[in-house]
Amino acid sequence: MRPRTIRQPGGRYRARAVRDRPRRIAVLGAGGFVGSHLVPHLAARAPTEGTEILAVDRTLEKLGSGLPGVRRVEADIAQPGLLEEVVRDADVVVSLTAICNPALYNTRPLDVIDANFTDLIPLVKLCAARRRWLVHFSTCEVYGRVALSATGRPMRAMVEDETALFLGPIARERWTYAAAKQLLERVIWAHGRHAGLPFTIVRPFNVIGPRMDFIPGVDGEGIPRVLACFLNALMRGEPLQLVDGGRQRRSFLDVGEFVAAVGRILERPDACQGEILNLGNPRNDVTIRALGRGLAGAYRAQHPDAPAPRFERVDAETFYGAGYDDTAVRVPSIAKATRLLDWRPRLQLTQMLPAIVADYVARYAEPIAAGVSSRQPRVAAGGRRG
Ligand code: UGA
Repeated sequence: MRPRTIRQPGGRYRARAVRDRPRRIAVLGAGGFVGSHLVPHLAARAPTEGTEILAVDRTLEKLGSGLPGVRRVEADIAQPGLLEEVVRDADVVVSLTAICNPALYNTRPLDVIDANFTDLIPLVKLCAARRRWLVHFSTCEVYGRVALSATGRPMRAMVEDETALFLGPIARERWTYAAAKQLLERVIWAHGRHAGLPFTIVRPFNVIGPRMDFIPGVDGEGIPRVLACFLNALMRGEPLQLVDGGRQRRSFLDVGEFVAAVGRILERPDACQGEILNLGNPRNDVTIRALGRGLAGAYRAQHPDAPAPRFERVDAETFYGAGYDDTAVRVPSIAKATRLLDWRPRLQLTQMLPAIVADYVARYAEPIAAGVSSRQPRVAAGGRRG
């Protein structure tokens, strides 16, 4: 430890102790999609850098075993005493646990609020009390329906410290998740500004890759995110369902490029503490229909005998239930991430899709062929991400 003058949120400066680079990294939610890519990325350099990684999740199946420098703990973060121990023994806590599946925001809003807000308050307080660096994963959903400036003018991209957070009415329960995530950001920020918490908030923008989500009827029930929905349909030879026609847009970022950026955050505490960072790829801004066409193309390139893909329009409330709402366009500004991390994502959507298709086919084609249920139940259920 060495004393430093560092910038506090809001531009204030004050001296306190920071580490050059954390050696003891705790990852909460390590067994989810993001965690299962982040932990191996960090572990790849652990032996040379002497880093110890603690991987915590209710299940670590997706993570695999035998990673150098990684200690695995299969437990819920609500387990008495667990967070205290984790925070005590870590230099940095990477907080990934969440319910982040839009099918649940309007069907299980109370669970969504607990998982994304209530259950994480103790973590924020413990990190503040012990001055541990909290790297918390929030969401691009906090920006809401479209990008608007503070005075309500349209913006091309969503900018961390400028764009308004434009959520829908309370009855549109879709925004339960975004509101919970936003309030936790405010709690973290306030602990940073007023209670000495070193923190970084990450807002991921539609990160995709192998091992994302689940396939209904095989390893989960309900409606996963769009990538798994489309792959499920392609593998079963069913139509791809385009919610409200699929004209809404998303900017997709490859998970490998995402975890590389997170690795750089951990290497740069001085630059990143007190900051909120978008991580996304503005050059992969496409409609959901275009994502479907791209996935179908990648799938048929690997399975030339597959039937031609069919697309079916479905009304949003029929698909997700009452209270759903949506973001029309979601493009990140990554100027801050580029400046602070010297990071710029390069992979185009079409370059990412073949490996994603191959991963899903390897894991799911056999159980699907063996005849597990082919219907997607309309009552959503699901789990947590990492
Ligand atoms: C997601 C989730 O809220 C979080 O995982 C996360 O914070 C964030 O956005 C993200 O991934 O970074 P969203 O992008 O709406 O929200 O979730 P998807 O399930 O990936 O849906 C994207 C779009 O595809 C939505 O407009 C949805 O209505 C549509 N969709 C979904 C379809 O057209 N067909 C489907 O079969 C499924």
